[in-house]
Amino acid sequence: MKLPVRVTICEVGTRDGFQIEPDFIPSALKVAVVDLLSAAGVPRIEVTSFVHPKVVPQLRDAEEVMAKIRRRPGTRYAALVPNEKGAVRAVDAGVDAVHTVVSASESHNLANVNMTIAESIEKLAAVMRVAERAKVEVGCGISTSFGCPFEGEVPLRQLESVVHRLVDIGASAVGLADTTGVANPRQVGHVLGHLMARFPRVRWTLHTHDTRAMAIPNILAAMECGVTHFDSSIGGLGGCPFAPGASGNVCSEDLVHCLHAMGVETGIDLDGLIAVSKRVQEIVARPLPGQVMKAGTFTRRYPLPDGVAARLPK
Ligand code: COA
Ligand code: ZN
Repeated sequence: MKLPVRVTICEVGTRDGFQIEPDFIPSALKVAVVDLLSAAGVPRIEVTSFVHPKVVPQLRDAEEVMAKIRRRPGTRYAALVPNEKGAVRAVDAGVDAVHTVVSASESHNLANVNMTIAESIEKLAAVMRVAERAKVEVGCGISTSFGCPFEGEVPLRQLESVVHRLVDIGASAVGLADTTGVANPRQVGHVLGHLMARFPRVRWTLHTHDTRAMAIPNILAAMECGVTHFDSSIGGLGGCPFAPGASGNVCSEDLVHCLHAMGVETGIDLDGLIAVSKRVQEIVARPLPGQVMKAGTFTRRYPLPDGVAARLPK
């Protein structure tokens, strides 16, 4: 396999995950989770989103959370924004980066941000100007890149056209999101192979959801193409309130476990990450999909059953 030496993980659980929790998670607990993640060495965290508080009430405390987290020097703190107002709020709150959102399909974009794709791109041009003035980084995410819960297949030329328009307004980092977990590894390889050749200067991120258990295979396919940036969620939290059928992102500690087992570095303390996941499980008060926190890592050993040791061949 063609694997990179190192990959960069962006933890999105406190945004993609907490946004769809049925109960409001108190700000102090959100802050605690962000601080535990940074203490485990997570290099990038999408802390929250600066969207309309009535549309995503679970993240209405974005300013407060940003103000109260402890900033670890090695961690870059980002937030999701859909428009200029969100970007101004995020910059005022002290983010290191803004992550923008637009969909590759018109229906999902209307459902998610109440705009056509063209209207979104116009708003995102304003976001780029705000970010440039504030000298914060921008990553442009594209929802439904591999398929849409309303329209089904998203033609590659349509995705390519959205990438093109983002590059035209100055995007240098683009994230392809499989919002409802419909992508398969062969498709990921095909789409990335095509786009990476067309836009060689773009830095690509893959944002996966594990709705159909294809997230890690898709990440492997992306690494084969040379992608080294991936989003993931602690415990496998995650989902989009405006995409029926969406469920959790690829689980951070399961992904980090897989990468470390293959010798791919992340800079993250896996045991620390597993501990955060168990804490998040307590906070949301239900079991999360993460598997390694239940099974232990692949190095786990069990005591021998009675009588087996004595009968082992010498
Ligand atoms: N933060 C807070 N308030 C915002 C805002 C933002 N980022 N963007 C717009 N608003 C306010 C406006 O100031 C205006 O307020 P007013 O009525 O008091 O004047 C009001 O919202 C309507 O503005 P408008 O631009 O018409 O927004 P809208 O109602 O069409 O909603 C979005 C558009 C993008 C703000 C909204 O759909 C949204 O927040 N979507 C986020 C979806 C999301 O987070 N999805 C999950 C992640 S992919
Ligand atoms: Zn997502």
